[in-house]
Formats: sequence, C-alpha cells, structure tokens
Amino acid sequence: MRLSLVCFSLALFAAPLPAQAPGKFPPDSLINVKVIPKGTPVVQVVGMMRNFTGGLGVRCQFCHVGEEGMPLGQFDFAKDEKKTKLVARQMMRMVEEINKRLDTIPGRAAQGLQVSCSTCHRGVNKPTPLFQVVAEATVAAGADSAIRAYKALRERFYGRDAYDFGEGSLNAAAFRVARANKVDDALALLKLNEEQFPNSSGMYVFRGNIVLLRGDTTSAATAYREAIRRDSTNNEARGRLRDIGRAQE
Ligand code: HEC
Ligand code: HEC
Repeated sequence: MRLSLVCFSLALFAAPLPAQAPGKFPPDSLINVKVIPKGTPVVQVVGMMRNFTGGLGVRCQFCHVGEEGMPLGQFDFAKDEKKTKLVARQMMRMVEEINKRLDTIPGRAAQGLQVSCSTCHRGVNKPTPLFQVVAEATVAAGADSAIRAYKALRERFYGRDAYDFGEGSLNAAAFRVARANKVDDALALLKLNEEQFPNSSGMYVFRGNIVLLRGDTTSAATAYREAIRRDSTNNEARGRLRDIGRAQE
C-alpha cells in the first residue's frame, strides 16, 4: 500500500501535465497555456493557431509535437518541446506589448490597425527581407548559389506578400555584397537584375557606386552616364558624376 502511494506521487511529479483523452481534437480544455487566458474557449484558440500557421506559412508541427499526415487528435499540443513554440510564446507577448503601445498613439482611431504575426512574417517563418537573404547567401556561398536560391524563392513566392521581387532588392543586396569586398559577386547580382529590369536607370547608379568601392572611377563614370542616358532626369547620377569630378567629360 505504502509503496503504491509512493509510485503514484512519483508519477505525478514525472507527468505534471494531465494527458488529454487520446484521439480528441479539439481538446476539451486548455492545459499548458501561459499567454492565452486559461478560460479562453478552445475553438477560439484553434482559430488563433490557424492564424499562426497562415501568418508564418507553416503547419501545426512547426511548433507542436506531431507529424505530417497524423490526425490532430494524436498531437501533443500541451507539450513545450520545440524551440519554435517557446519563441512563438515570446512573440505573442511581444505582439501584445506592441498593440498596447500602439493604443497610446496620439489621435489613433478607436479601431486603428492592430499588429499581428503576419504584419512582420508575411507568410514566412523567418521574416528576413529578400535583399538580406540574397546578400547573406552571396557572402557565404558566392553569387551562383545565391542566384539559385533567389530563383527558387521567386518561383515559390512571386505575387505573395513574403518577398519583394521588385528591382530594389537585388540592387540593395549587390551594394551590401560589394561593401563586404565581393565586387564581382555584386556585379553578378546586378546582371540578374538587369535581365529582369532591362530599362532601369537607377540600377546604373548602383553599378557606379559598386565599382567605385574598388576605386574604378572610369567604370563608375560610364555607369552614371548610362543612368543619365536611360533617364535624363536622374539627378542622383548627375550628382555622383560631379562628386567624382567627371561631370565635364
Ligand atoms: C508558430 C507556433 C505555433 C503553431 C504553428 C501552432 N501553434 Fe498551437 N500553440 C503555440 C503556442 C506558443 C501555444 C501556447 C500558448 C500559451 O502558452 O498561451 C500553443 C497552444 C496550442 C493549444 C493549447 C494547448 C494546451 O496547452 O492546452 C492547442 C490546442 C494548439 N496550440 C493547437 C494548434 C493547432 C491545431 C495548430 C495548427 C493549426 C497549431 N496549434 C499551430 C504555438 C503554435
Ligand atoms: C514585429 C515583427 C514581428 C511580429 C509581429 C512577429 N514576429 Fe515572429 N519573428 C520576428 C523576427 C524578426 C524573427 C526572427 C528572430 C531571429 O532572428 O531569431 C521572428 C521569428 C519567429 C519565430 C522563429 C522562426 C524560426 O524559424 O526559428 C517564430 C516561431 C515566430 N517568430 C512566431 C511568431 C508568432 C506566432 C507571431 C504572432 C503571435 C509573431 N512571430 C509575430 C518578428 C516578428
């Protein structure tokens, strides 16, 4: 008798989270919520979770213990095993703080915009801007590899909120790569950008700024002049030509 009592209390310590009836989804009650108020209806929590998956472009198992194709009733939603779930909890607290702060904005409308996961995440789990993804990939593995990654992202996400495939991203990536002393890789990124935006004037200002980083004022002047040829109102290119003392040629 005494022995079984000991075992019983040990078991309680080992399993502080009471198990749900297996196979039941949605669960009857919430077990291990630390941010969501305990009394929140489970259907409302599931709705919130669907917003998480949509906002981050992931499935339940990104944060919860379970496998693709497994019935939701067999997931262990209460368990805190995955780091992503712990991060998500901090993110929930952060979003609450942001929205509280937004409410203090002078003149804010009663129904002003609220921040949600998708405000930053826009359908991807790490909300890194495209220029940064490409610049980091280029510095780490070279332009060829980064260009393959860029094309794969474009294939998958073009037309979505996730990444900006406009002209600016590769220009900014190229400039960042050039500042990391990889001018040839930077020019390879600009070449891809030129294929996509063949009439751009601004891209040639970037090209000039990039070749200047290795002291090539002649190529820089050629690039700035090309920018002006493409768009006679490009005052930035004119200013840059003056800055390098090539305005009069
Ligand atoms: C981005 C991470 C993330 C994703 C994706 C996610 N959840 Fe969650 N989920 C959490 C976090 C964090 C909590 C705990 C919230 C708290 O502590 O208040 C939670 C709690 C839950 C709970 C309550 C568990 C308990 O303790 O009783 C259920 C049920 C749940 N999620 C279901 C789902 C379902 C179903 C999906 C897929 C549609 C899903 N979740 C997707 C992060 C996530
Ligand atoms: C203000 C912008 C912002 C908002 C709003 C935001 N996040 Fe994040 N989130 C980030 C940033 C930035 C990172 C990357 C942090 C890092 O570099 O480690 C991130 C990372 C994460 C990660 C880790 C992803 C991974 O692959 O490791 C999870 C999970 C996550 N966020 C969940 C959420 C959830 C759930 C919400 C809504 C409740 C949310 N985030 C709202 C900015 C935001």
